Amino acid sequence: MSFENLAVVTRGGIHTITIKRPSKLNALNRQTLQELYAAIIDASGDDKVRVIVITGAGDKAFVAGADISEIRDQSPVEARSFSQFGQNLMSMIQSLDKPVIAAINGFALGGGMELALACHLRIASDNAKLGLPEIKLGIMPGFGGTQRLLRLVGTTLALEMALGGEPISAERAHQLGLVNLVVPAAELEAAVGRMAKPLVKAAPEAVRGILQAVLQGSDINLEAGLALETARFALCCATEDMKEGTSAFLEKRAPEFKGR
Ligand code: COA
Repeated sequence: MSFENLAVVTRGGIHTITIKRPSKLNALNRQTLQELYAAIIDASGDDKVRVIVITGAGDKAFVAGADISEIRDQSPVEARSFSQFGQNLMSMIQSLDKPVIAAINGFALGGGMELALACHLRIASDNAKLGLPEIKLGIMPGFGGTQRLLRLVGTTLALEMALGGEPISAERAHQLGLVNLVVPAAELEAAVGRMAKPLVKAAPEAVRGILQAVLQGSDINLEAGLALETARFALCCATEDMKEGTSAFLEKRAPEFKGR
């Protein structure tokens, strides 16, 4: 599959999608959103892909938001479908059963921050800035940002960021639990590799179970979440990988998971 605004490469089970409109700081226009949708669907159905990484081209921006020139010219009806399409894309990313890592290599603003929030893990370069500046354009986040930020950091900080519109540094994002790790810009790719490689080798059923239990768990009550955990735990125990992982521990050797 080839794209105009994305570069896509799979290496050693790690599928890297680079958003590639550097002259517009990788802003998400409709075409890029559609390409991202197709790329994610493609990766989700490819057994060779075990981990997905999303990043931006160049050293300045991950994604500087939805494309403001398109927003300005759209009718309310088009705006509604734009928001729904963006939300669907972000929800699809979040509900994937393969880990998705955002490699935040610069500005992650508006739709860029919303994209990062939909990913499962986030590594930021130390020059990254994250924010929801939509209010400065007379609009508000429309790709799920109010809801995902709220769930990640709570009402106080979600309101501060969405009402204030001021981006925060990677370091502050780390302190708030918005990103997992901050590294010098030159080390971002290596840090992503260090995070992704163990996930490539992990037992896929365990990975799927953890993603579902944690992500759905944040929206359901404790009792329902615990029932979900038990069901997924039992499913892991029905795999050959469970026998391999437990035997390898007892035999003092490294496990070799086969995804069965
Ligand atoms: N949509 C469309 N174009 C965008 C964009 C966006 N979200 N963000 C940046 N660009 C474009 C600029 O218009 C400019 O294009 P031009 O060279 O054709 O004029 C180019 O990308 C470079 O951006 P520029 O503003 O010149 O870079 P900067 O280093 O001075 O500032 C930012 C960087 C990120 C602070 C600034 O670009 C910005 O505030 N972008 C918008 C962020 C935003 O509001 N996002 C939410 C959108 S809903």
